[in-house]
Amino acid sequence: MVIKIVGNRIYLKEMDESDAKKLHEYSKEPKLNEFSGPYKASESIDKAKEYIKECKKNILENKSYVLGIYKKNTNEFVGTIGFFDLDDENKSGEIGFWIARNYWNRGYMTEAVSLMTHFIFKVLKYHRICAHFHELNKAVERVLSKAGYKKEGELKEALKSKEGKYYNEIIYGITSNS
Ligand SMILES: CC(C)(COP(=O)(O)OP(=O)(O)OC[C@H]1O[C@@H](n2cnc3c(N)ncnc32)[C@H](O)[C@@H]1OP(=O)(O)O)[C@@H](O)C(=O)NCCC(=O)NCCS
Repeated sequence: MVIKIVGNRIYLKEMDESDAKKLHEYSKEPKLNEFSGPYKASESIDKAKEYIKECKKNILENKSYVLGIYKKNTNEFVGTIGFFDLDDENKSGEIGFWIARNYWNRGYMTEAVSLMTHFIFKVLKYHRICAHFHELNKAVERVLSKAGYKKEGELKEALKSKEGKYYNEIIYGITSNS
């Protein structure tokens, strides 16, 4: 399946090997990894290429859908959004996303989450999507709320920082009939 999901200011599609340099560059930014482990692509351009290949293979095999986010006016690659941990029996899965530091707070991710959610419900025919995130990651909470997701709960002290402090993991979700 060739995927291209077009919105007002951005579009989503499979990443290509030519995105590897930027993917590597972006994923080295410490702010991007503040609330998650470092991305494999941050290690080298070759690792970024490997990751892109893996994403393509997973899409082909319907195992997960990690797509690049591109600005419509310049075709510039700016981030990724993925649907993974698929439970085909219950038609449920999880989304995760990031966008390069220079593009934060311009509404791009809210648009990307809305496009991806529509694609997951209407094209992949899944029923439920969730997102898990660190309690201090207020931007992701805001993005999900703006895209229609609701808080479902929190896992108490499920995340341990490098300094040994525990934080709650927040869960948001949405269903195809909400
Ligand atoms: C989370 C992330 C994807 C948001 O992308 P984005 O394109 O900046 O999102 P948007 O511009 O659509 O919306 C951001 C919203 O969060 C708000 N926000 C940003 N930082 C905030 C903070 N510290 N506290 C409260 N709200 C905050 C913005 O004001 C905006 O809301 P508004 O439109 O009501 O003003 C981006 O910050 C990112 O890539 N972070 C690093 C990776 C990450 O944490 N990914 C999520 C893992 S699940």
